[in-house]
Amino acid sequence: MTLSSSASRPYDVILYGATGFVGRQTVAYFAAHGTHVRWALAGRNASKLEAIRKDAGPGAAQAGLLVAAADDQAALAALAASARVVLSTAGPFALFGSALVAACVENGTHYVDITGETPWVRGLIDQHHAKAKRDGTRIIPCCGFDSVPSDLGAWLAVQEMKARYGEVCASVKASFSMRGGLNGGTLASALNMIEAGQQAQMANPYLLNPDPQTRKPGHPLDADPFAPHFDADLDAWLAPFVMSPINTRVVRRSAALLGYGDAFHYQEYMRFGKGPVAALSAAALSFGMANGTAAMRIGPVRRMAKRFAPAPGTGPSEASMNNGFFRCDLVAQSPRGKTVKVRLSGQGDPGNRVTTRMVCEAALAFTGDRQTLPGGADAGGVLTAASGLGQVLVNRLRDTGMKLECL
Ligand SMILES: NC(=O)c1ccc[n+]([C@@H]2O[C@H](COP(=O)([O-])OP(=O)(O)OC[C@H]3O[C@@H](n4cnc5c(N)ncnc54)[C@H](OP(=O)(O)O)[C@@H]3O)[C@@H](O)[C@H]2O)c1
Repeated sequence: MTLSSSASRPYDVILYGATGFVGRQTVAYFAAHGTHVRWALAGRNASKLEAIRKDAGPGAAQAGLLVAAADDQAALAALAASARVVLSTAGPFALFGSALVAACVENGTHYVDITGETPWVRGLIDQHHAKAKRDGTRIIPCCGFDSVPSDLGAWLAVQEMKARYGEVCASVKASFSMRGGLNGGTLASALNMIEAGQQAQMANPYLLNPDPQTRKPGHPLDADPFAPHFDADLDAWLAPFVMSPINTRVVRRSAALLGYGDAFHYQEYMRFGKGPVAALSAAALSFGMANGTAAMRIGPVRRMAKRFAPAPGTGPSEASMNNGFFRCDLVAQSPRGKTVKVRLSGQGDPGNRVTTRMVCEAALAFTGDRQTLPGGADAGGVLTAASGLGQVLVNRLRDTGMKLECL
């Protein structure tokens, strides 16, 4: 089924999980920016959905409302059949996402979400990629802060290297600076993966590649970093970045699907400045992350973390979300030593304001000319932001004021 055959459906976009912490922000985003599209809120609780629609003001007054619990296959099938695109923020996705994606694939409905649960995404690839590709249905997980900046940043670097020097990229390194808070839903999703015993799977650097076994043993440049170091290309002290085990897998999937070349390697880090304080901070973060990850494998520590951490449905304050920011600096090198630099940056809490903008614009990308999407109107599969939306999403994000620049 192609986009054209789904154009006559009652809704352009359905926001599933609209009652959650991020879900409520997607409703506000559509109330402000989605007045030209037919959209609806969806979730498992009708009265909560109604209250959220009312709170969102006049921009949401015309929005539809659909009720479907995550395990109600009949309701999910009806929901998927009534939209061109489903945008889901209902997580943990391993618990609340599988039947919804299956319904989307079955009904030829495009799908975007904000998961960072890579083992679950692996399952989607195994179960749905072939059919979605055949049918021209785009299933695009990881359209939030995980992993849009990394994925589009690396993609821009590859395009720029080709345009400027006619060369491929051999290595792309990304470094993140950011300020933001933690959502209860994010913590619940991370703990759910640990409790499901998925650490070994998550550690595979090629987990999301079309065939994750083909590059065994892994290339040293693709191994997850664990120690701090000073990087001359990025001109800063670097430490492991907590999201890189998600983002690097997504970028490697894009590299495989879009043919960045066998020489391509991608790595990312948390960025600290220069000087002794930066060096100490990078060392402290590396030490803390190694020990924190190990501690979370211990049942009683996990139970304690759950007790004191923000509960699902909660997150940072409005002021703190408005005061957040992110910046992602990338340096790409060709095999012959040519260099390209890319910078992405945006205002607002990365896990909330930035994530909301990214996933909403990803969904809205389907409401434009479908021929402009990567691969043309009929391309499909379990894709990434770069391989499924590419320049269309870059343009849309730029139009919102986000910076995505080749320097
Ligand atoms: N990519 C990123 O950068 C990024 C950023 C933030 C969050 N996330 C991820 O996004 C997800 C949501 O985060 P959040 O903070 O918004 O979490 P949240 O506030 O806990 O929201 C969870 C949503 O799931 C819904 N839900 C729970 N059980 C359900 C069921 N049985 N059937 C249908 N819906 C159900 C909840 O509905 P009720 O209101 O009815 O309980 C709620 O709408 C998490 O997986 C998180 O890791 C990713």
